[in-house]
Amino acid sequence: MADLVGFAGSLRAGSYNRALLAAAADAMPDGSLLDVLPIDDVPLYNADVETGEGIPASVRLIKDRIAAADGLVIATPEYNGGVPGVAKNVIDWVSRPPDDMKRVTYGKPVALIGATPGGLGTALSQAAWQQVLRSLRMRVFTLGGPFYVSSAAKSFDGEGRPSDELAERIAAYMAAFVASLR
Ligand code: FNR
Repeated sequence: MADLVGFAGSLRAGSYNRALLAAAADAMPDGSLLDVLPIDDVPLYNADVETGEGIPASVRLIKDRIAAADGLVIATPEYNGGVPGVAKNVIDWVSRPPDDMKRVTYGKPVALIGATPGGLGTALSQAAWQQVLRSLRMRVFTLGGPFYVSSAAKSFDGEGRPSDELAERIAAYMAAFVASLR
């Protein structure tokens, strides 16, 4: 049994990564949950805002939900061979202020999944994420192997529903992640 939270690093309505995260939430093993966190209201990081107004409410919510969760799932696009700015911005806010990281990120298990219309399944993005997440002292889940969705249009229908093959694959991966948390 595990209570997980997750976010997708894309704001667009037809996002493959949002669809992948929704498929993961639907495929959770019995007794476990994956709640999708909204990131649409997270502003661009600005140290002047942090100093003057403090951590924005949208970020405080995300931090508190991650702190309370057994693990985090990030469904990441790949942009220019690296992490997408939208998702990196969320994580940069989550890491503030540094003396709160112990509560929120230290030792927190995190599973990376990603979808792309391209052929390499977000491999470069996920590799780049590992470096970022390590600096937040999170524990990246590797036992399930990498979870890539290449040629994403073939794995989702027009409404973002996963193919049977992908639904099975994500169910097995989420079960392995949950099992690793015991
Ligand atoms: C991309 N895309 C992309 N895809 C990929 O596999 N490797 C890459 O390096 C890039 N680079 C890249 C840069 C920029 C600026 C954009 C806008 C796009 C394509 C990307 O995978 C595609 O737009 C996905 O559909 C984005 O994810 P969502 O929005 O579908 O979740």
